[in-house]
Amino acid sequence: MNREVVYPGTFDPVTNGHLDIIKRALQMFDQITVAVVDKPGKNLLFTTRERIEMLQATAGKLSNVKIERFEGLLVDYLQQRNIFVILRGLRAVSDFEYEFQIALMNRKLYSNIESVFLMPSQEYTYLSSSLIKEVVRLGGKVEGLVPGVVEEALNKKFALTK
Ligand code: COA
Repeated sequence: MNREVVYPGTFDPVTNGHLDIIKRALQMFDQITVAVVDKPGKNLLFTTRERIEMLQATAGKLSNVKIERFEGLLVDYLQQRNIFVILRGLRAVSDFEYEFQIALMNRKLYSNIESVFLMPSQEYTYLSSSLIKEVVRLGGKVEGLVPGVVEEALNKKFALTK
């Protein structure tokens, strides 16, 4: 049986925390599709194309990982692809309530779906894309927290918009 999972998110931008989750999941699944939401409800720094390019340059280099965009309901996307498992990272207790709501709503919308949660390495439990953006915007260093290509893209973005 081919075990496939979809790892959905905004990835604005991808961090080492996301990559850590993907690497852990590769030990459990044969194929991971990182699904980049095209029009999320929140304001983004990077375009969908840029977010996908950064993922391709990092996670996309790993075998059995592919990157795709999606729009609309996540469950519709899974249904079209014939995939039944959603992967999410749980960093702290504070993530739990939100993830619990999403997982139950997704199951309500599509009863075949299961969600699995993995914990990132402890060093990434305090990471979020917003925090990374704020630190770079204010001139701080994010080395070791995001891949090099992401650091470059962030520096470029903020230099351009200053
Ligand atoms: N390392 C670092 N950061 C992490 C992380 C990890 N392992 N796991 C989560 N995060 C951060 C993200 O960077 C993000 O931070 P930010 O808010 O500062 O940008 C935050 O946690 C959560 O973002 P993300 O994982 O991208 O999820 P999301 O909540 O933005 O997106 C979707 C969730 C895309 C899965 C959800 O909105 C969705 O399914 N949308 C499609 C529409 C739909 O079906 N809606 C109904 C859902 S019930």
